[in-house]
Amino acid sequence: MSFSGAESFRKSSPVDTEWIERELSAFLERARSQEESRPIVCVTSGGTTVPLERNCVRFIDNFSKGTRGALSAEQFLKARGMVHCAGYSVIFLSRTGSLLPFLSECQEDMATAFSVSGPGELQVSALAEALRTFHSCTEDPGTFLHVPFTTVFEYVQYLEVIARRLASHGRLALFYLAAAVSDYYIPWAEMVEHKISGAGPLVLELQKVPKLLGELTSVWAPHATVVSFKLETDEEVLLTKAKAAIQKYGVDAVLANELHSRKERVTLLVRAGEGRAAPIHCSVLRLDPSAPPGSVIEEQLVGAVVDLHRQRSRR
Ligand code: PMT
Repeated sequence: MSFSGAESFRKSSPVDTEWIERELSAFLERARSQEESRPIVCVTSGGTTVPLERNCVRFIDNFSKGTRGALSAEQFLKARGMVHCAGYSVIFLSRTGSLLPFLSECQEDMATAFSVSGPGELQVSALAEALRTFHSCTEDPGTFLHVPFTTVFEYVQYLEVIARRLASHGRLALFYLAAAVSDYYIPWAEMVEHKISGAGPLVLELQKVPKLLGELTSVWAPHATVVSFKLETDEEVLLTKAKAAIQKYGVDAVLANELHSRKERVTLLVRAGEGRAAPIHCSVLRLDPSAPPGSVIEEQLVGAVVDLHRQRSRR
C-alpha cells in the first residue's frame, strides 16, 4: 500500500470533518467523566457509495444492509452488563439509513410492511420495546455516538479523524470494521459537476481506492486493536485473502465470511504474536441450528473479539 496514494485519495474530495471533531471531543469528555474509564470500540457498518457527479444524482453502491454492524454494536453495548467485562462505549460509524442497533428487526419489518405479497408484521409494541432497550443501553453519557456517512470519501475521512482521536486511548481502543468499503472511485477532480446526460452509453474509468488498513494500524492508531472483515463470494480464496490482511496490513484479527453463509458461519483468524510474520490461528464460529429463535452469530463474534481485545490490552 502506498501512503501517498491514500493521502491523495483523502485530499481528492471536500469533506467537512469539523462537526465530527466537535462531537467526538464532547463524547470522549463525557466518557472520561464516567467513574471507570471504559474501553471504546469503533464499529463501522453498511456500504459506502461512489458518486458519479459532484451534484450527485447517480452513484455506485456497495453491498451491505448494515445487519452485521448493527447486531455487533448491540452486543458491545450489552457487554456492559457481562461479568468480567468493563463494558464498551460504542462509536457507530454507519451508512445513513442502514440498520441500527436494537432497531434492526423493526426496520426490516417496516420495509416489508407494505409488501405486494401481503401486509407484513409491524408491531408498534415491538418498536416501543426496542426503543426502550436502545435508550436504556445508551443513556449513560459517553456510551454511544452515531457518526453517519454516505460516500467513500466521508467514510475514509471520518474513520481517520476517529482513529487519530482514539490513538490517545492506546490499547483500550478497538476497531471492528464491518463496513463494506468501495474498492473503486472517481477522483473529485475528474468528476463532472452536473447530472450526466442520459443521451448515450456511459463509459466510466474508476481509480483504485487505496487500502486504509495499513495506515490505521501503523499511523493513525498504532496501539489500538484492529479487527477487520473479509468478504468473498468464492470460498476457495476467502482464507488466503483474510490471512493476507494480517500479513500485509498488520491487523490483529480478521473475521472472514462468505456472502451466502455469513449469518451462520464466520472464520476468525488471529495473529498469535507480535509482527506481521507471526503465526495465525484459525477457528470457525457457527450459529448452532438448535439455538433459540432470535439467536445471532454476532454474539459469538463479539464474544471472541472482546476476549482478544482483553488479552491485547494486558500486554
Ligand atoms: O451488512 P450485512 O448485510 O450484514 O453484511 C455484512 C458484511 C458481509 C458486509 C460484513 O460482514 C463484511 O464482510 N464487511 C467487510 C466487507 C468488505 O469490504 O470486504 P473487503 O474484502 O472488500 O475489505 C476487507 C477489509 O478492508 C474491510 O475491513 C474494509 O474495511 C477494508 N478496506 C476495504 C477497501 C479499502 N479501500 N480499504 C480498506 O481498508
